[in-house]
Amino acid sequence: MSAVTPLLQMKGIVKRFPGVRALDGVDLEVLPGEVHCLLGQNGAGKSTLIKVLAGAHRPDEGVVTLGGEEVRPASPIDAIRLGISTIYQELDLVDGLTVAQNVFLGHEPSRLGFVGRSEVGRATRGLLTRLGHGEIRPGTEVGRLSPAAKQVVSMARALSRDTRLIVMDEPSAALAHDEVANLFRIIRELTAQGVAVIYISHRLEEIREIGDRVTVLKDGRTVAVGLPAKTTPTGEIVSLMTGRSVEHVFPPRPAPGSHEGRPEVLRVEDLAVPGVLSGVSFSVRAGEIVGLAGLVGSGRSEIIEAVYGARRFTGNVLLEGRPVGRGGTGRTVRLGMGLAPEERKSQALLLDQSVTRNISLAGLGRYSRLGWLDRRREAADARSLVERLDVRPGDPDRPVKTLSGGNQQKVVLARWLLNERRLLLLDEPTRGVDVGARAELYAVIRELADSGIGVLLVSSEVPEVLGLADRVLVIREGTVIHQGDARDLDEHRVLDMIMEGGAL
Ligand SMILES: Nc1ncnc2c1ncn2[C@@H]1O[C@H](COP(=O)(O)OP(=O)(O)OP(=O)(O)O)[C@@H](O)[C@H]1O
Ligand SMILES: [Mg+2]
Repeated sequence: MSAVTPLLQMKGIVKRFPGVRALDGVDLEVLPGEVHCLLGQNGAGKSTLIKVLAGAHRPDEGVVTLGGEEVRPASPIDAIRLGISTIYQELDLVDGLTVAQNVFLGHEPSRLGFVGRSEVGRATRGLLTRLGHGEIRPGTEVGRLSPAAKQVVSMARALSRDTRLIVMDEPSAALAHDEVANLFRIIRELTAQGVAVIYISHRLEEIREIGDRVTVLKDGRTVAVGLPAKTTPTGEIVSLMTGRSVEHVFPPRPAPGSHEGRPEVLRVEDLAVPGVLSGVSFSVRAGEIVGLAGLVGSGRSEIIEAVYGARRFTGNVLLEGRPVGRGGTGRTVRLGMGLAPEERKSQALLLDQSVTRNISLAGLGRYSRLGWLDRRREAADARSLVERLDVRPGDPDRPVKTLSGGNQQKVVLARWLLNERRLLLLDEPTRGVDVGARAELYAVIRELADSGIGVLLVSSEVPEVLGLADRVLVIREGTVIHQGDARDLDEHRVLDMIMEGGAL
């Protein structure tokens, strides 16, 4: 027994959904001022547990005590009154409102009194500056912000309240390397003041750096409580999470130079977008995975968007020799491009629809005959992809919104496996995907490349770009500052290049 009284205790928490026991008797204990990490594979129950804590779900069984007293947060507002702030994995900001309105949303008017907009604006600016993001304007509509900026707004909202416990569900998933450092600085400030943090992430390096203790969930149960975050061996954590050992994360690569002489699937010449990109030229050959490394805001996503026809540009983009031109995304899809976008919730998925329909979405044409949809074939194809990618739960009729974050990402990829593409554009393909499933996704991506298509990959995780890609382009401030074989680079060199002179 520890000498310090726990701030939070959750005991025997059970939460059932129709057909699933999402939580099957979970225990968690958090001390004041500690960073307590919650680890587990996709679908293990992490988000569900914190939703119980945040008053978004009522548990079917179990007891929650905060500061020694039993609490039953019945609504998110209730939880906030108790001093629990939550930053959700799928951000719950209101796109149509401004940054300041979002930050102060749900505050009791009595606390704000009749303060004018200017005061809310000033308070918001203060919080954003404290978060190291004074450049985000309180009056901007949230819908216009990048995913990383939205994350910062969400943090500001949590900090705007009196908080004893802050829960962060994969806060770093949308952040670049230097932004994570900033996040950690804020976490250290908070814990020094006695605030406790529950931190969920799939990145073990982060847990080592910021965590004090670790609790591991597997299939809705606690399999390890309060392990030391700094010293528990990685192999032990991974096998607790997965029930097996994961040895080879990245699939083997073809020998260097083996793509030379193969046809160019994509050729980009002197691509420019005013104020964002200039003079970007590169190509992707059949069978090749090309990775783009750079900070958020360096232009990586914009390159993908321009190639896909979702953004106006000057210069040339050719797919198998044919100019993409001004035909927009309709034309690029017809020519054979597929995109797995960064923000899958708003850009890629029909959340209320089934897994099957989300997979078949871009290729419904293949199932219609004389105006009839061949649902049997649609379902059979979806089922085999669900099996191949190990989507969990493996029920293709389930609405996509009930899947965990990582499993939703597999559904997005499954769609492009079904629709044979010439070029796949992958923007942060493993964001929110657990270590076990990552290895599976990497293998699938390599398999796709081996089948002869080209892959253009964007990732904030430099080790992922270096481990998966054949060739790497380093992007800084909208230009390509280095192109070369991935095997000739290491993480430090790439980080030096992407930050040099321009670290935020
Ligand atoms: N609203 C819901 N209705 C039905 N099932 C749900 C619902 N929310 C979650 N589930 C199921 O509960 C289980 C736990 O999901 P949860 O989102 O908590 O996982 P997670 O550990 O956060 O995973 P990830 O790492 O992918 O975010 C999964 O099987 C999921 O499909
Ligand atoms: Mg989750």
